[in-house]
Amino acid sequence: MSVIRVENLVTKFGSTLIHDRISFEVGSGEIFGILGGSGSGKSTLLRTLLFLNPITEGEIFIFDERVSMLSLPRQEMLLRRCGVLFQFGALFSSMSVLENVGVLLKEYSNYSQNMIDENSKMWLSLVGLSPKVCSLYPYELSGGMKKRVALARALSLSPEILFLDEPTSGLDPASSEKFDELILKLRELLGITIVMVTHDLDSVKDCMDRFIVLEKQKIAFNGSLASTNEATYLGELFSNKRGKRIWNEM
Ligand SMILES: Nc1ncnc2c1ncn2[C@@H]1O[C@H](COP(=O)(O)OP(=O)(O)O)[C@@H](O)[C@H]1O
Ligand SMILES: [Mg+2]
Repeated sequence: MSVIRVENLVTKFGSTLIHDRISFEVGSGEIFGILGGSGSGKSTLLRTLLFLNPITEGEIFIFDERVSMLSLPRQEMLLRRCGVLFQFGALFSSMSVLENVGVLLKEYSNYSQNMIDENSKMWLSLVGLSPKVCSLYPYELSGGMKKRVALARALSLSPEILFLDEPTSGLDPASSEKFDELILKLRELLGITIVMVTHDLDSVKDCMDRFIVLEKQKIAFNGSLASTNEATYLGELFSNKRGKRIWNEM
């Protein structure tokens, strides 16, 4: 069953064409990658899937709901079922780790503060952080820890789909690898569908079931790593070592 279905999607900003009739599906429980060069429209695609950009043309179905037909309240309800870690999504610097993780629960649940804190601690433990970090502030954390805190926050409303925009960019190779292991663990434990924009070929190797490559406004590739033999340009790219990024954006 597919949880996301994109049909002939066109995205334009003014007269600039970003996506030209692209179509793809994401299956339930899949770890699905969105790859492509800098400026190829990866983040824009994620934002469009989350109703943050208007759909110029075409259709998006999420959980079988035709997104363009939904009223605002229905869109809100659908968004609650999605967790997001944006590319430059920062933690609130004036809030502790515990407060950062609990910020969505505070806004969208009717939990008591105590329940919010207990929930937040549970998510922190799930992403591999010790309770000791609860009282720390973002400036006291390493890059890898910040990403995990942001991930705990993205998970805090128990989403069915988790969207991640370049979650390992800026991390050292060892931290990136640990992050990928965590993504696999989350899928196993939560049965969650994960849509991940990445530049990191090792992320593709480590944890992706399937991915698309955006190029020249179109989908240049759609498939699994096992089926990339035919795509020689990808074959070349996949011989890279961790730490080297495709299309060297970072
Ligand atoms: N809100 C916007 N208004 C105008 N142009 C935009 C907007 N958002 C993104 N773009 C343009 O769309 C293109 C794709 O951007 P983006 O999706 O961020 O690329 P990627 O994430 O693949 O690096 C870029 O040329 C960018 O300048
Ligand atoms: Mg981007």
